[in-house]
Amino acid sequence: MFHRLIRTLDLYDGLRLPVRIGREELLLIHEEGDTWLVQRRCPHGDFALDRGSVHRGVLRCPGHGLEFALSSGRCQENRSYCLRRYPLEFDGPWLGVSLNATAGH
Ligand code: FES
Repeated sequence: MFHRLIRTLDLYDGLRLPVRIGREELLLIHEEGDTWLVQRRCPHGDFALDRGSVHRGVLRCPGHGLEFALSSGRCQENRSYCLRRYPLEFDGPWLGVSLNATAGH
């Protein structure tokens, strides 16, 4: 099922948009002209990533400073941690994600 998240014209650098779909807590990030959708909470210590900084496609967790490549989800410092990523889709002016609301993705 497709879930609308935001209109593309409403995207801006620095955007962090927490969204909940069923039991899934997700975070839409727009930075440096790119948009990503990832799990909202850090796989290391469960900190919300809403205040995470992004530089050159790398998200830095505000909790303990681990960094995650947004292209792969891989943690740069410890490969046992991986950030779940979700593919974004377009529907006219909307950006969204296809997810099963109850079972997650
Ligand atoms: S909670 Fe994110 S680095 Fe520890």
